[in-house]
Formats: sequence, C-alpha cells, structure tokens
Amino acid sequence: MRRTLIAGNWKMNGSLQSITELMDGIKAGLNEVDNADMAVCPPAVYLMKVKGLIGEANIGLGSQNICDQASGAYTGELGPSMLKEAGCKYAIIGHSERRSLYGESDELVAKRHAMAVESGITPILCIGETLEERESGVTEAVVARQLDAVIDTQGIEAIGKCVIAYEPVWAIGTGKTATPEQAQAVHAFIRAKLSALSTHIADNVQILYGGSMNAANAKDLLSQPDIDGGLIGGASLKAEDFLAIGKSA
Ligand code: 13P
Repeated sequence: MRRTLIAGNWKMNGSLQSITELMDGIKAGLNEVDNADMAVCPPAVYLMKVKGLIGEANIGLGSQNICDQASGAYTGELGPSMLKEAGCKYAIIGHSERRSLYGESDELVAKRHAMAVESGITPILCIGETLEERESGVTEAVVARQLDAVIDTQGIEAIGKCVIAYEPVWAIGTGKTATPEQAQAVHAFIRAKLSALSTHIADNVQILYGGSMNAANAKDLLSQPDIDGGLIGGASLKAEDFLAIGKSA
C-alpha cells in the first residue's frame, strides 16, 4: 500500500519570521493529519533553521535542488553531504522552473538524480508538459522522455528510490488545476510505463500531483487511484491550507 505524501515546495518565499510562524502553525495541527506524511522544502538558506523548528515533529525536510557533484568548485550549488547534514530526507529535482528559467536539461536532472540516490537522499523527480506540448498531443512523449533520461542512465532501480511528481507546467501557479481525470490519466500512463520494466517498482513508487493543488481540490485529486500525494506550491505557504490538504488524504 502506497503512503500518501504531501510536500510543500516553498520556492523562493519566506523570511525568518514567516517561516517560524508557518512551522508553528503546521506543528500545531499535525495531529489531525492521519493518512499522509508531510514534508516541507524551504529555500536552502533556511534548511537548518527549519530542521530546528521541526524538532521532534514528524515532518520531512527537503531541499529544492541538489548538485550532481559531491563537492568542489561548483559555485551556487548544494552538495549532497551538506544537505544530509542539514537534515534533508528529500531533494526536489528537475522542477519546471529550474528547467525553463535556468536551462536544466533532462541530462543534468538525471545526473542530479543519480547523486541524490547515491547519497541516500530521496529525489522528488518533477516531470510534466507545457501547455503547448499538451495541445499538440505530446504529453505522454514528454513525460516518457523525462523519465527515460533517468532510466536509461541509471536503470529502473533508480526510479524505485525516488518520488515522482507529475506537474503539468500549465497548472503551476496559474490556478488552473488539472482535472482529477486529466491528472489520473497521466499518472496511470507513468505507472504503466514503469510496469513494463518492473511491476514491483511501478506498484510501489509514489507519484505526486503538483499544480494549483489546494484545500478545495485536494480531496478529488487524492482520491484517484494513481495519485499518491501532492507537491504543493502556493497553498503550502499557509499552515491552514497545507494541513487541510494533508487532512483530505
Ligand atoms: P502551485 O501549487 O503554486 O501551483 O505550485 C506547484 C509547484 O510548482 C510545486 O512544485
């Protein structure tokens, strides 16, 4: 049985004051979340602060990226051992904002994936099509290509060590959520594709949905058979909304 994971991607938002209030709020309501694991992915500069704020609470910590190299002259990057020292369990990789705004290729994302797995950090591998790609009917080809970049270099076993996040780019930050049926169709496609290589991995890998998921639409999305949680942007910045999503699992 796959656990539900609700992970908050704070992106480049927050201040010391606001993240302290946010974490206090999440911790205060965490006992009402029965059927989901919760995680937060703050900006890197706040990771250790948030680890301290989490304390003994059952909240996973994740970074928003991870370097494809172990250490050295890679200005601006985050080394895997540093992320482990900061207490990270997860690292988001291949977010569409990294791909589109900062030019991260499928190949680089795959290398970051390999480094995370090698270091014992669970990658949250983001994949998804743009509006143009959806309208031209290549959604499945795009997500297959993004998955194959990892599978072809590291084998299907590497997918068994990650969490996949299907995030249609047109749904991110737009308020235009994919319908539960649209999301389920792509999630089912992903699972079927993986199943051709390993039914065990396909049955067990968590596939999250991301893109304007909120307290109002979470229940319908999370009740789809192949949707195992959410990667939440905007709605993860308000404790009440983030907890409501967790509670709807
Ligand atoms: P929103 O929930 O703000 O649409 O962002 C989704 C996302 O990009 C999570 O990684």
